[in-house]
Amino acid sequence: MNKAATDHLATAQAHANIALIKYWGKRRGNSDALNLPAVGSLSITLDALTTTTSVQFDDQLATDEACINNRRLQARELQRISNSLDLVRKRARQQGLTQIADRHARVVSDNNFPTAAGLASSASAFAALVTAAAAAAGLQLTDRALSVLARMGSGSAARSIYGGYVLMPRGQHDDGSDAVAQPLHDATHWPLRVLIAITDSGYKKVSSTLGMQQTMLTSPYFAAWVAAQEADLQQAAAAIAQRDFDRLAELAEHSCLKMHATALAAQPGVLYWNPASIACMQLIRDLRAQGHAVFFTNDAGPQIKAVCLPEAEATVSAALQTVTGVQSVLHSGLGGEARLLPA
Ligand code: DP6
Repeated sequence: MNKAATDHLATAQAHANIALIKYWGKRRGNSDALNLPAVGSLSITLDALTTTTSVQFDDQLATDEACINNRRLQARELQRISNSLDLVRKRARQQGLTQIADRHARVVSDNNFPTAAGLASSASAFAALVTAAAAAAGLQLTDRALSVLARMGSGSAARSIYGGYVLMPRGQHDDGSDAVAQPLHDATHWPLRVLIAITDSGYKKVSSTLGMQQTMLTSPYFAAWVAAQEADLQQAAAAIAQRDFDRLAELAEHSCLKMHATALAAQPGVLYWNPASIACMQLIRDLRAQGHAVFFTNDAGPQIKAVCLPEAEATVSAALQTVTGVQSVLHSGLGGEARLLPA
């Protein structure tokens, strides 16, 4: 019997990811708890940004407990984590692991990057959580099954189960069985570099979940955003397969700006940028016009990610550091899949 099976403890590590073709909006399926995306998405997994999470099912606990970056969560902050743990407990019950089904869990999770606005901490967090929880429960799940569990915690987390270039299809089924991430290429296919300009290290004010909800309910552009997504995904997948940087740059900036335009048109408008975010985007466009292979992308927060070829990295990094309001620049390559760490 392995150690995880004896003490119901396991530790996993997952990497953050950023979408080049964005997920924004949800579709109704059999239940909101399935957290089904309204659109497919395509991401790259970042090796330098990791979440490490331990889960232990313990019959001495009266409730689930979680400590994130050394801060003990309050009961009201635990709901999303407990929901993911409930899914694992349910599977354990189905597989006859009845002692796990009735146990609460202790979760200890740390990010090696600031849990800052738009740094995708929910993606690496839920990917690491379900990987660790499934192993701690003694379940042997496929990556596909883990991706489904991760998606129910946070849509972008479904992609962090895999490394390199990852496609998350929208799926057609109401039970979510085909809304599962798929690896397209590993990181070695095209080792792009990613620089992250931190322009505000505070917590995000409007979560992706809320921003999406407001966009879906009130943005007049939401239907157009959904209608164009499949073509964007196919073209981006082709550009990546061919390592066509200029084409990928066009498609990724378009997807990012289109997502934000759709959110900006909500009522009230959902605005994630600050002046430094805009200055970084303009600078990155100027650098590309001068011949440097770089493009930007940005999520539900003010940080700007510059995706570049390795030969452009030093120039892009130096330029970003001159922008007023940029506090620091993180560097990353493309990373691997979520994995269990040895006990
Ligand atoms: C802008 O995965 O955080 O980063 O499913 O509600 O948890 P929930 O949303 P989340 O949304 C990510 C949105 C995005 C784009 C992306 O990562 O594709």
